[in-house]
Amino acid sequence: MKIIERIKQPISYEMELFEKKFRLSMSSKVALLNRITHYIVNRKGKQMRPMFVFLSAKMVSNGQLNERTYRGASVIELIHTATLVHDDVVDDSNHRRGFFSINALWKNKIAVLVGDFLLSKGLLFCIDNNDFDLLKIISVAVREMSEGELLQIEKARKLDITEDVYYEIIRQKTATLIAACCSLGAASIKPHSNEVETMRKFGELIGMAFQIKDDLFDYGTKKIGKPTGIDIKEQKMTLPLIHVLNNCSKKEHDWLINSIKNHNKNSRKVKEVIDFVKQKGGLDYAVSKMKQFQEEALELLKDYPKSEYKEALILMVNYVIDRNK
Ligand code: IPE
Ligand code: IPE
Ligand code: MG
Ligand code: MG
Repeated sequence: MKIIERIKQPISYEMELFEKKFRLSMSSKVALLNRITHYIVNRKGKQMRPMFVFLSAKMVSNGQLNERTYRGASVIELIHTATLVHDDVVDDSNHRRGFFSINALWKNKIAVLVGDFLLSKGLLFCIDNNDFDLLKIISVAVREMSEGELLQIEKARKLDITEDVYYEIIRQKTATLIAACCSLGAASIKPHSNEVETMRKFGELIGMAFQIKDDLFDYGTKKIGKPTGIDIKEQKMTLPLIHVLNNCSKKEHDWLINSIKNHNKNSRKVKEVIDFVKQKGGLDYAVSKMKQFQEEALELLKDYPKSEYKEALILMVNYVIDRNK
């Protein structure tokens, strides 16, 4: 059995029901919006966030779920989808999930509005059901994601990012939402237990590894359903490059910065930078850091009793770093 199928096995019923609920959660009276949301739900992603929600909930409660868990999963996937629609505008990216992005098909104006629509649908879904504790968890994540994206833009302009600032960016823009999945999963069943905080921390650590993996894909040439090799074009400096900048000669450093600052739209120059980063061990370094976060995450699961849900969550942690898209 494929690893992803083994992960889904203890939550297969929940994931099926989730998909139906998720589809319904996007509906609108506006025909154009409905066309676009249909396009979106028919090209679903890996759905790792709802999987984190369900597995976290089931692990802490030994298999129990409730309607709050389902709503939380839908809201998080709505918000995730909204941020991807916006992210492709911000990154000027034409492909997502193996198809054209919303901005590629309908242009930026519409993509911005569709992202806002999905975001508001998510928040209202919580409000309409009085899930204010879950809404709080989610709203913190939404705020942090915007802050992370803006910090990233600020650093791309100045080209002065340090390794610590990189971790802060990925913590905010990606890890917080995965942290929200895991804490929300726990909170949907046991709102007042300290497991909510343990699971938040777990999600944050695995979210860090998740984004390092995503940044490593950009250095590769594998087909992952979205463009690769675009980070340097967008002057986005990620861990492999940051590490090499900190560990090369002044001459090499100046050459790298000059290439990124003044030749970032020149494919040949960008390829030279990518090759240099690889040759200097930038990817190996990022892989080792990713594994460090993975191990720290696993450490937090140690005290939970053995269960099929815990096993699946451990597989999920490994899938985050072994996945091929
Ligand atoms: C992509 O997330 C955005 C990042 C935080 C890197 P996913 O890789 O989970 O996207 P989908 O939902 O599977 O397309
Ligand atoms: C992920 O950022 C999107 C958010 C976390 C908001 P990236 O721009 O790094 O992700 P991809 O590679 O486009 O999915
Ligand atoms: Mg981006
Ligand atoms: Mg992007």
